[in-house]
Amino acid sequence: MITFENISKEFQDGTKAVQDFSTTVEKGELFVLIGPSGCGKTTTLKMINRLIEPTQGTIHIEGRNLKNWNKQELRWNIGYVLQQIALFPTMTIEENVAVVPEMRRWGRKQTAERVEELLRMVELDPAVYKKRKPAELSGGEQQRVGVVRALAADPDILIMDEPFSALDPLTREQLQQDIKQLQSRIQKTIVFVTHDMDEALALGDRICMMEGGSIVQVGTPHELTNHPANDFVRDFIGDRINEWDTPVREMMDPQSDYIANIEELPNLPLYPAPLYIFDNDSSFLGRRQGREIIEHDVSITPDMLLKKAVQYFEKTDMDALPVLENGRLIGVLSYKDIVWYMKNIHAQPGKESV
Ligand SMILES: Nc1ncnc2c1ncn2[C@@H]1O[C@H](COP(=O)(O)OP(=O)(O)OP(=O)(O)O)[C@@H](O)[C@H]1O
Ligand SMILES: [Mg+2]
Repeated sequence: MITFENISKEFQDGTKAVQDFSTTVEKGELFVLIGPSGCGKTTTLKMINRLIEPTQGTIHIEGRNLKNWNKQELRWNIGYVLQQIALFPTMTIEENVAVVPEMRRWGRKQTAERVEELLRMVELDPAVYKKRKPAELSGGEQQRVGVVRALAADPDILIMDEPFSALDPLTREQLQQDIKQLQSRIQKTIVFVTHDMDEALALGDRICMMEGGSIVQVGTPHELTNHPANDFVRDFIGDRINEWDTPVREMMDPQSDYIANIEELPNLPLYPAPLYIFDNDSSFLGRRQGREIIEHDVSITPDMLLKKAVQYFEKTDMDALPVLENGRLIGVLSYKDIVWYMKNIHAQPGKESV
Protein backbone atom coordinates (compact mmCIF):
# COMPACT_ATOMS: atom_id res chain seq x y z
CA MET A 1 0.00 0.00 0.00
CA ILE A 2 1.27 3.47 -0.93
CA THR A 3 -0.12 6.48 0.86
CA PHE A 4 0.38 10.06 -0.32
CA GLU A 5 -0.36 12.70 2.30
CA ASN A 6 -0.56 16.28 1.08
CA ILE A 7 2.37 15.86 -1.27
CA SER A 8 3.64 18.95 -3.07
CA LYS A 9 6.67 19.45 -5.27
CA GLU A 10 8.02 22.83 -6.18
CA PHE A 11 11.15 22.79 -8.34
CA GLN A 12 13.98 25.24 -7.73
CA ASP A 13 12.84 27.54 -10.52
CA GLY A 14 9.48 27.91 -8.78
CA THR A 15 7.52 25.45 -10.96
CA LYS A 16 4.76 23.90 -8.87
CA ALA A 17 4.65 20.45 -10.46
CA VAL A 18 2.50 18.69 -7.84
CA GLN A 19 0.17 20.33 -5.35
CA ASP A 20 -1.46 18.88 -2.26
CA PHE A 21 -1.68 15.37 -3.71
CA SER A 22 -3.35 12.90 -1.32
CA THR A 23 -4.49 9.40 -2.18
CA THR A 24 -3.92 5.74 -1.35
CA VAL A 25 -2.85 3.01 -3.75
CA GLU A 26 -4.02 -0.34 -2.42
CA LYS A 27 -1.87 -3.43 -2.31
CA GLY A 28 -2.20 -5.47 -5.50
CA GLU A 29 -3.97 -2.67 -7.31
CA LEU A 30 -3.22 -1.34 -10.79
CA PHE A 31 -3.48 2.39 -10.26
CA VAL A 32 -3.35 4.63 -13.31
CA LEU A 33 -2.20 8.26 -13.25
CA ILE A 34 -3.58 10.15 -16.21
CA GLY A 35 -3.76 13.76 -17.33
CA PRO A 36 -2.44 16.16 -19.95
CA SER A 37 1.23 16.77 -20.61
CA GLY A 38 2.93 18.66 -17.78
CA CYS A 39 0.24 17.89 -15.16
CA GLY A 40 2.76 16.22 -12.83
CA LYS A 41 2.45 12.50 -13.53
CA THR A 42 6.14 11.71 -13.89
CA THR A 43 7.02 13.92 -10.92
CA THR A 44 4.50 12.04 -8.76
CA LEU A 45 5.84 8.69 -9.93
CA LYS A 46 9.46 9.61 -9.23
CA MET A 47 8.62 10.63 -5.70
CA ILE A 48 7.62 7.01 -5.03
CA ASN A 49 11.17 5.76 -5.48
CA ARG A 50 12.74 9.01 -4.31
CA LEU A 51 14.27 10.01 -7.61
CA ILE A 52 12.53 13.25 -6.67
CA GLU A 53 11.97 14.37 -3.07
CA PRO A 54 8.71 16.17 -2.24
CA THR A 55 8.90 19.70 -0.87
CA GLN A 56 5.94 19.02 1.37
CA GLY A 57 3.96 16.09 2.69
CA THR A 58 4.79 12.45 3.35
CA ILE A 59 4.62 9.20 1.44
CA HIS A 60 4.29 5.89 3.24
CA ILE A 61 4.91 2.47 1.76
CA GLU A 62 3.46 -0.36 3.83
CA GLY A 63 2.96 2.15 6.62
CA ARG A 64 6.61 3.16 6.70
CA ASN A 65 7.62 6.73 5.94
CA LEU A 66 9.71 6.84 2.77
CA LYS A 67 12.28 8.96 4.55
CA ASN A 68 13.02 5.96 6.77
CA TRP A 69 13.72 3.63 3.87
CA ASN A 70 17.25 3.10 2.75
CA LYS A 71 17.29 4.45 -0.82
CA GLN A 72 19.02 1.39 -2.20
CA GLU A 73 16.56 -0.95 -0.54
CA LEU A 74 13.71 1.19 -1.83
CA ARG A 75 14.87 1.04 -5.46
CA TRP A 76 15.26 -2.73 -5.23
CA ASN A 77 11.74 -3.02 -3.90
CA ILE A 78 10.31 -0.89 -6.66
CA GLY A 79 10.64 -1.94 -10.29
CA TYR A 80 10.77 1.03 -12.64
CA VAL A 81 9.82 0.91 -16.33
CA LEU A 82 10.49 4.06 -18.32
CA GLN A 83 8.89 5.46 -21.41
CA GLN A 84 12.15 5.34 -23.32
CA ILE A 85 13.27 1.75 -23.60
CA ALA A 86 16.39 1.91 -21.50
CA LEU A 87 18.12 -1.41 -22.02
CA PHE A 88 21.92 -1.37 -21.90
CA PRO A 89 22.86 -1.63 -25.59
CA THR A 90 26.15 -3.50 -25.20
CA MET A 91 24.77 -6.11 -22.84
CA THR A 92 22.84 -9.21 -23.90
CA ILE A 93 19.15 -9.61 -23.01
CA GLU A 94 20.13 -12.07 -20.30
CA GLU A 95 22.61 -9.60 -18.78
CA ASN A 96 20.10 -6.79 -18.97
CA VAL A 97 17.46 -8.72 -17.05
CA ALA A 98 20.01 -9.89 -14.48
CA VAL A 99 21.19 -6.41 -13.48
CA VAL A 100 19.24 -6.01 -10.25
CA PRO A 101 19.49 -9.64 -9.08
CA GLU A 102 23.25 -9.33 -9.50
CA MET A 103 23.36 -6.09 -7.54
CA ARG A 104 21.49 -7.93 -4.83
CA ARG A 105 24.11 -10.66 -5.03
CA TRP A 106 21.78 -13.47 -5.94
CA GLY A 107 23.73 -16.61 -6.81
CA ARG A 108 24.55 -17.30 -10.47
CA LYS A 109 22.24 -20.29 -10.69
CA GLN A 110 19.27 -18.54 -9.08
CA THR A 111 19.75 -15.53 -11.34
CA ALA A 112 19.98 -17.62 -14.50
CA GLU A 113 16.80 -19.49 -13.59
CA ARG A 114 14.99 -16.28 -12.83
CA VAL A 115 15.98 -14.76 -16.19
CA GLU A 116 14.66 -17.78 -18.07
CA GLU A 117 11.44 -17.81 -16.10
CA LEU A 118 10.84 -14.12 -16.77
CA LEU A 119 11.56 -14.30 -20.49
CA ARG A 120 9.13 -17.19 -20.80
CA MET A 121 6.56 -15.22 -18.85
CA VAL A 122 6.43 -12.64 -21.67
CA GLU A 123 6.72 -15.27 -24.36
CA LEU A 124 10.30 -14.65 -25.40
CA ASP A 125 11.92 -18.04 -25.84
CA PRO A 126 15.13 -17.88 -23.76
CA ALA A 127 16.95 -20.14 -26.21
CA VAL A 128 16.32 -17.62 -28.96
CA TYR A 129 16.57 -14.29 -27.15
CA LYS A 130 18.92 -14.71 -24.18
CA LYS A 131 22.15 -14.06 -26.04
CA ARG A 132 20.88 -11.33 -28.34
CA LYS A 133 21.64 -7.63 -27.94
CA PRO A 134 18.73 -5.14 -27.55
CA ALA A 135 19.23 -3.84 -31.11
CA GLU A 136 18.42 -7.33 -32.40
CA LEU A 137 14.90 -7.16 -30.93
CA SER A 138 11.82 -5.34 -32.18
CA GLY A 139 10.51 -2.35 -30.22
CA GLY A 140 7.75 -4.39 -28.61
CA GLU A 141 10.15 -7.19 -27.65
CA GLN A 142 12.55 -4.69 -26.11
CA GLN A 143 9.73 -3.15 -24.15
CA ARG A 144 8.77 -6.59 -22.83
CA VAL A 145 12.35 -7.10 -21.71
CA GLY A 146 12.11 -3.69 -20.01
CA VAL A 147 9.04 -4.87 -18.11
CA VAL A 148 10.53 -8.16 -16.94
CA ARG A 149 13.80 -6.49 -16.03
CA ALA A 150 11.84 -4.31 -13.64
CA LEU A 151 10.30 -7.50 -12.21
CA ALA A 152 13.56 -9.41 -12.00
CA ALA A 153 14.33 -9.06 -8.31
CA ASP A 154 10.67 -9.64 -7.46
CA PRO A 155 9.81 -6.13 -6.25
CA ASP A 156 6.54 -5.52 -4.42
CA ILE A 157 5.79 -2.40 -6.40
CA LEU A 158 6.09 -1.61 -10.07
CA ILE A 159 6.04 1.96 -11.38
CA MET A 160 5.62 2.41 -15.11
CA ASP A 161 5.88 5.72 -16.95
CA GLU A 162 4.09 5.57 -20.31
CA PRO A 163 5.82 2.27 -21.01
CA PHE A 164 3.92 1.54 -24.21
CA SER A 165 3.56 4.95 -25.80
CA ALA A 166 6.26 4.43 -28.44
CA LEU A 167 4.62 1.28 -29.78
CA ASP A 168 2.18 0.66 -32.60
CA PRO A 169 -1.46 0.08 -31.55
CA LEU A 170 -1.39 -3.72 -31.98
CA THR A 171 1.82 -4.30 -30.03
CA ARG A 172 0.55 -1.90 -27.45
CA GLU A 173 -2.70 -3.77 -26.99
CA GLN A 174 -0.81 -7.05 -26.73
CA LEU A 175 1.45 -5.64 -24.02
CA GLN A 176 -1.52 -4.19 -22.17
CA GLN A 177 -3.01 -7.65 -22.07
CA ASP A 178 0.33 -9.08 -20.91
CA ILE A 179 0.51 -6.60 -18.07
CA LYS A 180 -3.08 -7.19 -17.05
CA GLN A 181 -2.52 -10.96 -16.97
CA LEU A 182 0.77 -10.57 -15.14
CA GLN A 183 -0.98 -8.35 -12.65
CA SER A 184 -3.72 -10.85 -11.90
CA ARG A 185 -1.16 -13.64 -11.62
CA ILE A 186 1.55 -12.01 -9.52
CA GLN A 187 -0.50 -9.43 -7.59
CA LYS A 188 1.97 -6.57 -7.70
CA THR A 189 1.01 -3.06 -6.80
CA ILE A 190 1.41 -1.12 -10.03
CA VAL A 191 1.35 2.63 -10.56
CA PHE A 192 1.01 3.20 -14.27
CA VAL A 193 1.30 6.57 -16.01
CA THR A 194 -0.36 7.25 -19.32
CA HIS A 195 -2.09 10.08 -21.11
CA ASP A 196 -4.18 7.70 -23.18
CA MET A 197 -7.69 7.30 -21.81
CA ASP A 198 -8.34 4.02 -23.65
CA GLU A 199 -5.24 2.55 -22.06
CA ALA A 200 -6.30 3.82 -18.63
CA LEU A 201 -9.78 2.33 -18.97
CA ALA A 202 -8.45 -0.98 -20.24
CA LEU A 203 -5.86 -1.40 -17.49
CA GLY A 204 -6.82 0.50 -14.38
CA ASP A 205 -8.49 -0.93 -11.31
CA ARG A 206 -8.70 2.72 -10.42
CA ILE A 207 -7.77 5.85 -12.33
CA CYS A 208 -6.44 9.07 -10.87
CA MET A 209 -7.07 12.04 -13.13
CA MET A 210 -4.68 14.98 -12.64
CA GLU A 211 -4.72 18.55 -13.85
CA GLY A 212 -2.13 21.21 -13.07
CA GLY A 213 -0.44 19.14 -10.37
CA SER A 214 -3.65 18.32 -8.49
CA ILE A 215 -6.06 15.41 -8.37
CA VAL A 216 -9.34 16.05 -10.13
CA GLN A 217 -10.92 12.62 -9.56
CA VAL A 218 -9.97 9.16 -8.36
CA GLY A 219 -12.27 6.28 -9.19
CA THR A 220 -12.93 3.05 -11.04
CA PRO A 221 -13.13 3.25 -14.83
CA HIS A 222 -16.89 3.05 -14.50
CA GLU A 223 -17.03 5.90 -11.97
CA LEU A 224 -15.01 8.13 -14.27
CA THR A 225 -16.95 7.37 -17.42
CA ASN A 226 -20.41 7.42 -15.89
CA HIS A 227 -19.93 9.93 -13.07
CA PRO A 228 -17.23 12.37 -14.17
CA ALA A 229 -16.48 14.89 -11.40
CA ASN A 230 -16.52 17.89 -13.73
CA ASP A 231 -16.30 19.04 -17.34
CA PHE A 232 -12.55 18.53 -17.46
CA VAL A 233 -12.96 14.82 -16.75
CA ARG A 234 -15.98 14.62 -19.04
CA ASP A 235 -13.98 16.13 -21.92
CA PHE A 236 -11.06 13.83 -21.25
CA ILE A 237 -13.33 10.78 -21.27
CA GLY A 238 -14.97 11.86 -24.52
CA ASP A 239 -17.58 9.45 -25.75
CA ARG A 240 -16.42 6.37 -23.89
CA ILE A 241 -19.40 5.85 -21.62
CA ASN A 242 -20.19 2.15 -21.45
CA GLU A 243 -23.51 1.16 -19.91
CA TRP A 244 -22.60 -2.52 -20.00
CA ASP A 245 -19.98 -1.84 -17.34
CA THR A 246 -22.51 -0.42 -14.90
CA PRO A 247 -22.80 -2.36 -11.64
CA VAL A 248 -26.25 -3.73 -10.82
CA ARG A 249 -26.30 -1.63 -7.63
CA GLU A 250 -26.75 1.53 -9.68
CA MET A 251 -29.66 0.22 -11.70
CA MET A 252 -31.60 -1.95 -9.28
CA ASP A 253 -34.72 -0.83 -7.45
CA PRO A 254 -34.48 -1.36 -3.66
CA GLN A 255 -38.20 -0.70 -3.23
CA SER A 256 -39.39 -2.68 -6.18
CA ASP A 257 -42.95 -3.92 -6.60
CA TYR A 258 -41.40 -7.33 -7.15
CA ILE A 259 -40.42 -7.54 -3.46
CA ALA A 260 -42.57 -8.32 -0.44
CA ASN A 261 -42.13 -9.08 3.24
CA ILE A 262 -43.44 -12.51 4.19
CA GLU A 263 -45.91 -10.93 6.64
CA GLU A 264 -47.63 -9.09 3.81
CA LEU A 265 -48.00 -12.25 1.82
CA PRO A 266 -51.56 -13.33 2.80
CA ASN A 267 -52.96 -9.93 1.83
CA LEU A 268 -51.25 -9.48 -1.50
CA PRO A 269 -52.92 -9.87 -4.90
CA LEU A 270 -51.49 -12.54 -7.18
CA TYR A 271 -49.68 -9.95 -9.30
CA PRO A 272 -47.01 -8.81 -9.91
CA ALA A 273 -45.05 -11.89 -10.76
CA PRO A 274 -42.38 -12.75 -10.00
CA LEU A 275 -42.59 -11.73 -6.38
CA TYR A 276 -39.50 -12.22 -4.24
CA ILE A 277 -40.03 -12.72 -0.53
CA PHE A 278 -37.88 -11.71 2.40
CA ASP A 279 -38.37 -11.99 6.14
CA ASN A 280 -37.98 -9.37 8.85
CA ASP A 281 -34.19 -9.31 8.83
CA SER A 282 -34.15 -9.08 4.99
CA SER A 283 -33.06 -12.70 4.51
CA PHE A 284 -34.12 -13.96 1.11
CA LEU A 285 -36.71 -16.73 1.34
CA GLY A 286 -37.58 -17.42 -2.28
CA ARG A 287 -40.20 -16.71 -4.88
CA ARG A 288 -43.94 -16.77 -4.48
CA GLN A 289 -45.88 -19.33 -6.44
CA GLY A 290 -49.60 -19.33 -5.80
CA ARG A 291 -49.85 -19.32 -2.00
CA GLU A 292 -46.47 -20.99 -1.54
CA ILE A 293 -42.90 -19.78 -1.40
CA ILE A 294 -40.62 -21.82 -3.58
CA GLU A 295 -36.87 -21.90 -3.84
CA HIS A 296 -35.39 -19.52 -6.38
CA ASP A 297 -31.77 -19.99 -7.30
CA VAL A 298 -31.13 -17.48 -10.09
CA SER A 299 -29.99 -14.28 -8.41
CA ILE A 300 -27.51 -11.51 -9.07
CA THR A 301 -25.22 -9.42 -6.86
CA PRO A 302 -24.93 -5.65 -6.52
CA ASP A 303 -21.34 -5.53 -7.81
CA MET A 304 -22.08 -7.60 -10.89
CA LEU A 305 -21.77 -5.62 -14.12
CA LEU A 306 -24.74 -5.33 -16.43
CA LYS A 307 -22.99 -7.32 -19.15
CA LYS A 308 -22.82 -10.24 -16.71
CA ALA A 309 -26.26 -9.73 -15.24
CA VAL A 310 -27.99 -10.04 -18.61
CA GLN A 311 -26.59 -13.57 -18.90
CA TYR A 312 -28.65 -14.45 -15.82
CA PHE A 313 -31.77 -13.06 -17.42
CA GLU A 314 -31.11 -15.38 -20.33
CA LYS A 315 -31.12 -18.32 -17.93
CA THR A 316 -34.69 -17.69 -16.74
CA ASP A 317 -37.92 -16.42 -18.19
CA MET A 318 -38.31 -13.84 -15.40
CA ASP A 319 -38.60 -10.12 -16.16
CA ALA A 320 -36.95 -9.33 -12.84
CA LEU A 321 -34.20 -10.92 -10.76
CA PRO A 322 -33.50 -10.66 -7.02
CA VAL A 323 -30.31 -8.85 -6.00
CA LEU A 324 -28.68 -10.58 -3.05
CA GLU A 325 -25.85 -9.44 -0.82
CA ASN A 326 -24.72 -11.97 1.78
CA GLY A 327 -28.04 -13.78 1.61
CA ARG A 328 -30.06 -10.58 2.04
CA LEU A 329 -32.50 -9.33 -0.52
CA ILE A 330 -31.45 -5.73 -1.17
CA GLY A 331 -33.42 -5.04 -4.34
CA VAL A 332 -34.59 -6.25 -7.70
CA LEU A 333 -33.33 -5.59 -11.17
CA SER A 334 -36.00 -5.66 -13.85
CA TYR A 335 -35.95 -4.97 -17.57
CA LYS A 336 -37.77 -1.75 -16.77
CA ASP A 337 -34.98 -0.64 -14.40
CA ILE A 338 -32.40 -1.27 -17.11
CA VAL A 339 -34.30 0.78 -19.67
CA TRP A 340 -34.73 3.60 -17.14
CA TYR A 341 -31.05 3.64 -16.38
CA MET A 342 -30.09 3.73 -20.05
CA LYS A 343 -32.48 6.57 -20.71
CA ASN A 344 -31.22 8.68 -17.82
CA ILE A 345 -27.51 8.09 -18.21
CA HIS A 346 -27.75 9.60 -21.66
CA ALA A 347 -29.76 12.56 -20.46
CA GLN A 348 -26.62 14.26 -19.05
CA PRO A 349 -25.81 17.87 -19.85
CA GLY A 350 -24.58 18.17 -23.40
CA LYS A 351 -26.13 14.85 -24.38
CA GLU A 352 -29.39 14.42 -26.19
CA SER A 353 -32.06 12.64 -24.23
CA VAL A 354 -33.63 9.72 -26.06
N1 LIG B 1 13.56 19.36 -12.97
C1 LIG B 1 12.56 20.23 -13.21
N2 LIG B 1 12.72 21.54 -13.00
C2 LIG B 1 11.72 22.42 -13.21
N3 LIG B 1 10.49 22.06 -13.65
C3 LIG B 1 10.29 20.75 -13.91
C4 LIG B 1 11.30 19.77 -13.70
N4 LIG B 1 10.79 18.56 -14.04
C5 LIG B 1 9.52 18.78 -14.43
N5 LIG B 1 9.21 20.10 -14.36
C6 LIG B 1 7.92 20.72 -14.65
O1 LIG B 1 6.95 20.19 -13.77
C7 LIG B 1 5.70 20.02 -14.44
C8 LIG B 1 5.27 18.58 -14.35
O2 LIG B 1 6.17 17.77 -15.09
P1 LIG B 1 5.98 16.20 -15.26
O3 LIG B 1 7.17 15.68 -15.96
O4 LIG B 1 5.66 15.63 -13.94
O5 LIG B 1 4.70 16.16 -16.20
P2 LIG B 1 3.97 14.90 -16.87
O6 LIG B 1 2.56 14.92 -16.38
O7 LIG B 1 4.75 13.68 -16.66
O8 LIG B 1 3.95 15.32 -18.43
P3 LIG B 1 4.16 14.39 -19.75
O9 LIG B 1 2.82 13.77 -20.03
O10 LIG B 1 4.50 15.40 -20.80
O11 LIG B 1 5.24 13.41 -19.49
C9 LIG B 1 5.91 20.51 -15.85
O12 LIG B 1 5.48 21.83 -15.94
C10 LIG B 1 7.42 20.43 -16.04
O13 LIG B 1 7.86 21.41 -16.96
MG1 LIG C 1 5.86 12.38 -17.92
